[in-house]
Amino acid sequence: MQPSTGRPRPRDPAGKTPVWSTVTLRVNGMAHTLELDHRTTVLDALRDEIGLTGAKKGCDHGQCGACTVLVGGRRANSCLLLAVAHQDAPITTIEGLVSAGAPHPVQAAFLDRDGFQCGYCTPGQICSAVGVLAEAAAGHPSHVTAAADLADEGPAELTPDEIRERMSGNLCRCGAYPRIVEAVADVIA
Ligand code: FES
Ligand code: FES
Repeated sequence: MQPSTGRPRPRDPAGKTPVWSTVTLRVNGMAHTLELDHRTTVLDALRDEIGLTGAKKGCDHGQCGACTVLVGGRRANSCLLLAVAHQDAPITTIEGLVSAGAPHPVQAAFLDRDGFQCGYCTPGQICSAVGVLAEAAAGHPSHVTAAADLADEGPAELTPDEIRERMSGNLCRCGAYPRIVEAVADVIA
């Protein structure tokens, strides 16, 4: 367990008394018990309290996907999650995708395909892609899934259109989208 830093938030609105609680976040298989202001997001807890800076803060409003992590295997924008609501929830960040020193297949595919330029969106893109693969394997449809396939309970086919639609919540200001789609497709192939 990590000791809490208990640092006050710099953005406390004047006159408001913060409410603090002890919260245990389980990140990449490790428990971190922290003393947190109730307004602390999972993203801020990861970056500022635990020191995992892979998840990035782009918009801080749930609009860009740079902060994407996996919660119980499902992708989520960590800037929209309150840490106090995630006691003991299993969280995986980009740092946790590496296994025994080897990159996750999606990480390897992004490297092979040059699926990034500045790299700021990349941790979120990769976590999102890992979530997409799991969703497709579980047969979850997307907005572009053909009507004829909706009743099919088998794995969803990840065509380039499906990949583009399912990854559309992750923005890339560098415009690396074609390579990102290719990287995700490589993992399926
Ligand atoms: Fe969370 Fe943009 S920082 S969606
Ligand atoms: Fe620069 Fe995506 S690689 S924002």
